Amino acid sequence: MHVVRRPGWALPERLATPENQFFDRRRALGVLGGAAAATALPLSAGRAASDLLAELYPVPRNARYTFERPLTPEDLVTSYNNFYEFGSSKRIARAAQALKIQPWQVVINGRVERELTLDATDLIRQMPLEERVYRLRCVEGWSMVVPWTGFPMADLVKLAAPTSGARYVRMETFEDSSMAPGQRQFWYPWPYVEGLTLEEATNELAFIVTGVYGKPLPRQNGAPLRSAVPWKYGFKSIKSIVRFTFTDTRPVSFWERLQDEEYGFWANVNPEVPHPRWSQATERVVGSDERVPTQLYNGYGAYVAALYDGLQGERLFM
Ligand code: MTE
Repeated sequence: MHVVRRPGWALPERLATPENQFFDRRRALGVLGGAAAATALPLSAGRAASDLLAELYPVPRNARYTFERPLTPEDLVTSYNNFYEFGSSKRIARAAQALKIQPWQVVINGRVERELTLDATDLIRQMPLEERVYRLRCVEGWSMVVPWTGFPMADLVKLAAPTSGARYVRMETFEDSSMAPGQRQFWYPWPYVEGLTLEEATNELAFIVTGVYGKPLPRQNGAPLRSAVPWKYGFKSIKSIVRFTFTDTRPVSFWERLQDEEYGFWANVNPEVPHPRWSQATERVVGSDERVPTQLYNGYGAYVAALYDGLQGERLFM
């Protein structure tokens, strides 16, 4: 097997955020009125929500989250997808254009101080957007490096104000088979569901994604908002979320409900724990012919390993 190792310092020049993107962001903030951009504003009359969102991008990159491999080209990030609501192939981008993302309501409920129903545009406009480059490792054995835009999931948890009984956050994707033909496949347990413990959801890495490559998120990547939990296999990063439920019960996710011998609740990346049907030791780098070694917690152990202290008896890696 052809395995290429690159040192951590080998950052290609094109990975730096171009200077003009920072200036464009400043201009956008100026148009919105500086600090006002960071607070919830009602949509202005006569302006489409998409216009208001588009001018929030691009935003500066948070340099804390480093990465060793080149960014996956944008055309691959937006054309090689998993989104079973639109089919089980990787080429669902065209079908996903049927997804209506405006208006889009997001419900926050369960064990919270006050249940909320928010318009996704208003939610996104009141959150502190930043760009983070994260690795994405799919359980199928391929990986990408993606410049997401979004906000910390911890900020959404703060907004929700969970009560003391809340231990997990359960996230749910839309359900509407008139837009999403995959949801007519009755053998799948729709809607797509994912879950995290509250400790995971408030870990600094857990991110709610609203954009990619300095633009609002395309439908095929999970518009208008999805999660990114980069230390876990990609299926934990749920797309097109409509509901966050704070609960005392561990959520059963879509893939776990379908095949619990192969997919569990935790699904942390580990090269030493094979999937029952294939090895997880290496990964195919999408956009190149490289295979590289997979890293424990997808390389994010310094941020997350402590979350699992004392849980070694659990199926942490599937
Ligand atoms: N979310 C929903 N609602 N439906 C899906 O089929 N697929 C998951 C995850 N989130 C999926 C989903 C899987 S298996 C992966 S690898 C990632 O989305 C892929 O995200 P991407 O298409 O943006 O690369």
